[in-house]
Amino acid sequence: MAKIEGFRIKNYRVLKDITIGKLWNLQKVKPLSPLTAVIGKNGVGKSTLFDAFGFLSGCLNNGVEQACDVSKRGEFKRIRSQGIKDPIEFEIYYTQDGKSRPITYKLAIDLDKTERPNSKKHERND
Ligand SMILES: Nc1ncnc2c1ncn2[C@@H]1O[C@H](COP(=O)(O)OP(=O)(O)OP(=O)(O)O)[C@@H](O)[C@H]1O
Ligand SMILES: [Mg+2]
Repeated sequence: MAKIEGFRIKNYRVLKDITIGKLWNLQKVKPLSPLTAVIGKNGVGKSTLFDAFGFLSGCLNNGVEQACDVSKRGEFKRIRSQGIKDPIEFEIYYTQDGKSRPITYKLAIDLDKTERPNSKKHERND
């Protein structure tokens, strides 16, 4: 089973730039353990963090536009952190089966020329 060692989320609602666990450029940080608890004050972004994974999954399975328009999320302009013009970005550092070399997966989403949300960068470094 795939195991997420760490991830970074940028400009997704209240989460302007958070990194949890280990990334390819943060090799000294411990990877996430199989059980991770998220604790914090009201409004810090706990629910947003979990929704970010739902959003990412929706982007990959159904396309970016549809993931943005899921009713409870609202349109792209409401999902991107307020006052920010940069893309929403995800970086996930994971192993395919828990043993092999970790892979970095990156996705950046922004409005295209026609004002429709689209993936700008979509890469996997094995
Ligand atoms: N596009 C956005 N840009 C910036 N902040 C946003 C955006 N959309 C929502 N927020 C803020 O995110 C916060 C809510 O985050 P969230 O619901 O994830 O918090 P939470 O930690 O789950 O809180 P609770 O403990 O109350 O459940 C609110 O303060 C809201 O104003
Ligand atoms: Mg919550």
